[in-house]
Amino acid sequence: NEIKVFCPATIANISCGFDVLGVALDNVGDEMVVKKTSKKGITITKIEGQNLPLETHKNVAGVAGLALLSASDYEGGFEIEIYKKIKAGSGIGSSAASSTGAVCAMNKLLGEPFSNLELVQFAMKGEELASGVQHADNVAPAIYGGFTLVRSYSPLDIIKINTPKKLYATVIHPQIEIKTSDSRKILKTTISLADGIKQWGNVGGLIAGLYTEDYDLISRSLEDHIIEPIRSILIPAFDNVKSASLNAGALGCGISGSGPSIYALSKGKETAEKVAQAMQNVYNKVGIPYDTHVSTVN
Ligand code: HSE
Repeated sequence: NEIKVFCPATIANISCGFDVLGVALDNVGDEMVVKKTSKKGITITKIEGQNLPLETHKNVAGVAGLALLSASDYEGGFEIEIYKKIKAGSGIGSSAASSTGAVCAMNKLLGEPFSNLELVQFAMKGEELASGVQHADNVAPAIYGGFTLVRSYSPLDIIKINTPKKLYATVIHPQIEIKTSDSRKILKTTISLADGIKQWGNVGGLIAGLYTEDYDLISRSLEDHIIEPIRSILIPAFDNVKSASLNAGALGCGISGSGPSIYALSKGKETAEKVAQAMQNVYNKVGIPYDTHVSTVN
């Protein structure tokens, strides 16, 4: 009647796939303890690590959980304890970790009546509360694991993508907070055909590279001609961090989700750690505090 779950951090967009591509980090994330109760509804009893609202309707885990409850014939409710390790507004899917942790734990406790696709739909309600938009590119990898593609939002169609074994992610988080809603407001709502051609060429290339485990193709495809030029202005020393990571051997580097975290993908743990060091050197030089993570992505 009680379960403890790991709620992974996620990198959304992966440069070329704005709102459609994402990947889960294996060893960066929150923990959540969920208990079945006879009392109806969702009660958040404890949040450690971040200052977030306990009120069910104001908390992404609460809202996602209520979406699941209203689709279920279960008569009771749940109590949730959240142990946050992912900082809100860091760009590695803090809200998605809470939303997906809640719905995955509840689904388990109910005997798994819902499919992964349905869990994504419930968790998207949490994302809407956090950012104003029901984007699925963080919640999908958090639920399915590895890389995922949102092939379509309407109807929702999620594809789990092969994850090459030697792929590692490095994430550096300069200690500023950027709200997803703010970093979406600055985006243009139209793109040129020429930019579209580059972007969908890269999305196709990245998917092909992930399936064939062709690291050079993955590397060539990790480009973003549309979002990165606009959002990178908000991120301290972005260009320097990016070029340092590429010089250290990263396959590619870009903004993690809506930022400010910067991610890089590398072949092998050793390179991923070198990349972390190179990124840290940039921030050490300019005196910007940061957190870094190196993680597998299966
Ligand atoms: N695709 C979303 C965005 C991810 O870039 O706004 C937010 O984590």
